Amino acid sequence: MTTTQTHETAGNDIADKVAHKKLLQWVREIASLTGPERIHWCDGSEQEYQSMLHAMVQAGTAIPLNPNIRPNSILVRSNPADVARVEDRTFICSEKKEDAGPNNNWEDPLRMQQKLNELFTGSMAGRTMYVIPYCMGPLGSPISKIGVEISDSPYVVANMHIMARVGTRVLEAIGNDGEFVKGVHTVGAPLAPNQQDDTWPNDPNRKYICHFPETREIWSYGSGYGGNALLGKKCHALRIASVQARDEGWLAEHMLILKITSPAGEVKYITGAFPSACGKTNLAMLIPTTPGWKVETVGDDICWMKFGPDGRLYAINPESGFFGVAPGTGMSSNPNAMATVTKNSIFTNCAITAADDVWWEGMTDEKPSQLMDWLRRPWTPASNRKAAHPNARFTTPARQCPAIAAEWEDPRGVPIDAILFGGRRGTVVPLVTEAFDWQHGTFLGASTSSETTAAAAGKVGQLRRDPMAMLPFCGYNMGDYFGHWLKIGERAGARLPKIFSVNWFRQDENGKFIWPGYGENSRVLKWVFERCNGTANAVDTAIGRLPRPEDLDMSGMDITRVVVEKLLKVDIQGWKNEIPAMRAYFATFGDRLPEGIRKQVDALETRLG
Ligand code: GTP
Ligand code: SPV
Ligand code: MN
Repeated sequence: MTTTQTHETAGNDIADKVAHKKLLQWVREIASLTGPERIHWCDGSEQEYQSMLHAMVQAGTAIPLNPNIRPNSILVRSNPADVARVEDRTFICSEKKEDAGPNNNWEDPLRMQQKLNELFTGSMAGRTMYVIPYCMGPLGSPISKIGVEISDSPYVVANMHIMARVGTRVLEAIGNDGEFVKGVHTVGAPLAPNQQDDTWPNDPNRKYICHFPETREIWSYGSGYGGNALLGKKCHALRIASVQARDEGWLAEHMLILKITSPAGEVKYITGAFPSACGKTNLAMLIPTTPGWKVETVGDDICWMKFGPDGRLYAINPESGFFGVAPGTGMSSNPNAMATVTKNSIFTNCAITAADDVWWEGMTDEKPSQLMDWLRRPWTPASNRKAAHPNARFTTPARQCPAIAAEWEDPRGVPIDAILFGGRRGTVVPLVTEAFDWQHGTFLGASTSSETTAAAAGKVGQLRRDPMAMLPFCGYNMGDYFGHWLKIGERAGARLPKIFSVNWFRQDENGKFIWPGYGENSRVLKWVFERCNGTANAVDTAIGRLPRPEDLDMSGMDITRVVVEKLLKVDIQGWKNEIPAMRAYFATFGDRLPEGIRKQVDALETRLG
């Protein structure tokens, strides 16, 4: 390469074959800015994956798990100050502040680029700079998009191998002049000559997760964790893609995609937007308790939807793996996830057992008698603390999921019949509500609120507005985003999915969940399915269409009529109390709030009487 200190790793001659001049030029620029010891172009091979695991084990970042229990898998423990997304350090650097909106932190793009240039100068010293060509979505799909992430973290390379299609085949797809999203990532921990590396290098004091929507660029500094560092995921597939989707007339959403088959063999596809750590992975892999019904997984976190020639919305899962919440995942809650992570997986911030296997709260009914917790301290059930971090995660290949749908990589996507919006709400919001129409459904999504979780740094359990589960992920002004949703509904010839609001998290006075959730959510999916077919009953209420208790199939379930009535109650006073907060929230978008949303609030208020 052009810089004097930087050279290729032995045997990595991919750069010589890259025909894309702008890509080569950009890689050279980043190398001369960050000054790595060497550059490695990722080919995406199994051998490359193994060398990343090996490098992490050598550095003390990772421990191989017991190959007899969990073959080809590792446990990684991060720095305790780098365990989740950092929303207050995430920026949308659009040219105009109004285009980022009140939902985003904004910084002027020129000023931010200046700051980043300072931070990235020499930031990769002593490290290998990896060039990771990746494709979000099946290669060759008209809905897929290509990106290239430059990173100095072998953990990122290994995770990207699982989460996206990476390597030489993607370079071939970019060709001489293909478009790609540029992502630059550094852990922000340059090494002086002979300096001993930290087990989880990062910058403890400075983190910047920056997006430049106009130039489709991502710059991430200082963190090695999850959505901060795996730039194909939240940064590209949601923040940048949401802007592209707005410009091009499609949808990039924080949604799972599931396939549901009725006992008669009829198939429907349902997407669901739930905020981080609010049940997407679990719903996508659900095993129905309703006899004869089957649920299969298409995706568990992100969904890109485009109109097909028949006017229906077709969805792809842009990812190829699951980066799932470990705590709460067990044989009783999510056996499909447990089967998926039996091999070829990366575990982060879980505990490790005496037999060198991973463990987390909820994985087994009985707690192991002793372990090493995620902070590498001895732990027993008597220890007054969690063994795994609440945002401990598994990274695991989607193809290993026993419930993966045969068509999960269909380049055309799957036609969507219903969209669910949900949040974590202890009160007021019923188990399920059907929207009157697309406009009302957009309003149901836009007015969703949810309690914060450990997926992002900060306080847990705080109720906040999280429209369409996109608050942390919408790359532009959310007022415009609502407008984009409304516009999708006005498209000529569109055959739109039905929209529903759901809430699995209703609690009693003592804070105990009154709905069992998980597999029992199939009761609600069945009703949704039958509403799409026009075969299930509903009653019109002030807030939307609800099933009566007898309209939901609760057969064989240990639940009282009183509880079901409570789950389906329209709490008129509770909703009236929500209106001022709703109005205040929508007012923060000023004149960017579409008239259609304001009208929905008025209409709701009128219906509540
Ligand atoms: P991200 O990967 O952060 O986007 O999260 P997610 O939306 O995929 O959430 P996930 O399915 O991983 O669930 C997060 C937490 O919620 C886990 O601890 C689950 O056990 C719990 N959970 C999921 N579904 C249900 C449910 O139906 N009821 C209850 N009570 N808890 C649930
Ligand atoms: C989320 O927080 O919604 C996640 C995990 O899916 S992360 O990839 O860290 O964003
Ligand atoms: Mn998510």
